[in-house]
Amino acid sequence: MGFKEKINLDNLPNHIAVIMDGNGRWAAKQGESRVFGHEHGVNSVRETAEAAAELGIGYLTLYAFSTENWNRPKFEVDALMTLFVDTIQREIETLNKNNIRLNAIGDLKSLPGENYRKLMDTIDETRNNDRMVLTLAMSYSARWEITEAVRRIITDKENQQLNAEEITENFFSNYLNTNDMPDPELLIRTSGEKRISNFLLWQIAYAELYFTPILWPEFTKEDFYEAIVNYQSRERRFGLTSEQIKS
Ligand code: FPP
Repeated sequence: MGFKEKINLDNLPNHIAVIMDGNGRWAAKQGESRVFGHEHGVNSVRETAEAAAELGIGYLTLYAFSTENWNRPKFEVDALMTLFVDTIQREIETLNKNNIRLNAIGDLKSLPGENYRKLMDTIDETRNNDRMVLTLAMSYSARWEITEAVRRIITDKENQQLNAEEITENFFSNYLNTNDMPDPELLIRTSGEKRISNFLLWQIAYAELYFTPILWPEFTKEDFYEAIVNYQSRERRFGLTSEQIKS
């Protein structure tokens, strides 16, 4: 029996976030360049998005490019930017056919102008789809997002008369890039690294963390199903005791 058959469809996470890691190491194992690894990583993006939509996951968020990734060699950054745009444009039809809405979070204005425009166009072309929201985190880091939220709270004209007590967790969440989505219940990271790397720090407060040694270009639907089965084996307590949860 495969992992898919073991999934309890009544207990699916509504939002899964993924740190796609290991493209460079996978490429090195083949004696190829890092860019070759990123190109193959696109297949895993497709597999994962397809698997998530088929299962009925509401939100899939992929960490595609961090704020820190801008410091990689220019050649690699340029290749990644081209790959993002080409892939997104190539997949518009599939996204629409499968009723998937594309979304992006991060400091999107820092993307090269052409990339930004094409990304916005694709987001616009898929805006009416409502089966699943596929969010790409691009030029994203959680500390940037949180700092930006604080700036916007202070500069927002509506807040000029605000009292400190009015700043609740809910109020603050509304200023994050993810204000229109639920928090992820499951965070997957590939490649064996056990770090969060500045991804969704606020939103993963209660997420289950799943680390797999599989390198991203080798990550398949079956690996995705395995992560969900593992998630479903855990008891989510949210600070309560096991006895409280069971009663
Ligand atoms: C991390 O692996 C991966 C990235 C920085 C880029 C992720 C991009 C893709 C999977 C390509 C396509 C994506 C979309 C959304 C179209 P790494 O380079 O850090 O690998 P390493 O740790 O082995 O060096």
